[in-house]
Amino acid sequence: MWAAWGTYPAYRAKNDQINTMEDRIRDCFSYSMNAPASPSGGPPPRADAIYRDLQMYSAWLATGVPTGAKLPGKGYLDLKSTTLGYDPRRGAQVFAQSCAACHGPDGQGAKNGDGSYAFPPLWGAQSFNWGAAMASVKTAAGFIKANMPLGQGYALTDQQAWDVAAFIDSRERPRDPRQDGSVGEARSRFHANGDYYGQIIDSHLLGDGS
Ligand code: HEC
Repeated sequence: MWAAWGTYPAYRAKNDQINTMEDRIRDCFSYSMNAPASPSGGPPPRADAIYRDLQMYSAWLATGVPTGAKLPGKGYLDLKSTTLGYDPRRGAQVFAQSCAACHGPDGQGAKNGDGSYAFPPLWGAQSFNWGAAMASVKTAAGFIKANMPLGQGYALTDQQAWDVAAFIDSRERPRDPRQDGSVGEARSRFHANGDYYGQIIDSHLLGDGS
């Protein structure tokens, strides 16, 4: 959040446009928070006070930092691929050993008494949707390597991070909000990088959200 403040507006390949910080946060609601499943059915409307508030928080975190400075924590770790490649079956073992205690053996997370999530679900109906950056194996692997298990960043080997990312990202999750035709068509438009979206795993076509 602090690293973001000085870097917007910025070009974003995801939508091939210059994005304001509000545009960027709006996408976080749409994809990472799966806003289509929220009571309003979408992200907060443009110019809603929530965008201003979140930007103010970012600005406050970055107090005194020169505009455009590159700050630690920006974006995701760029994890180099391994000679073995990645394998969801190996990843399932990493998950059971290092992740299930918090995210649940079925990946559905765990709730607080008030119904909010203490530990977020990593797949299924309540998870980030197929349009989120985290649904890309490379991005998830970089995030996991640097941040998970919580409080033990960099404890996993690169191989374990890739494998567990592949395991998580080969499970079903809510539809990509950009999909307006078939899964196959959305795959060629938005998921041409070889992610699991649109692939058939365990005789199920990933991406239709069911
Ligand atoms: C000690 C509890 C704990 C353990 C163990 C743990 N996590 Fe997490 N994880 C969290 C919490 C809390 C969050 C949400 C806060 C955050 O993102 O920092 C989270 C967030 C995530 C996210 C981001 C979810 C999203 O919606 O963007 C992913 C992916 C993830 N964890 C994967 C893993 C993997 C893979 C492992 C095992 C290697 C793991 N976690 C182990 C507590 C844990």
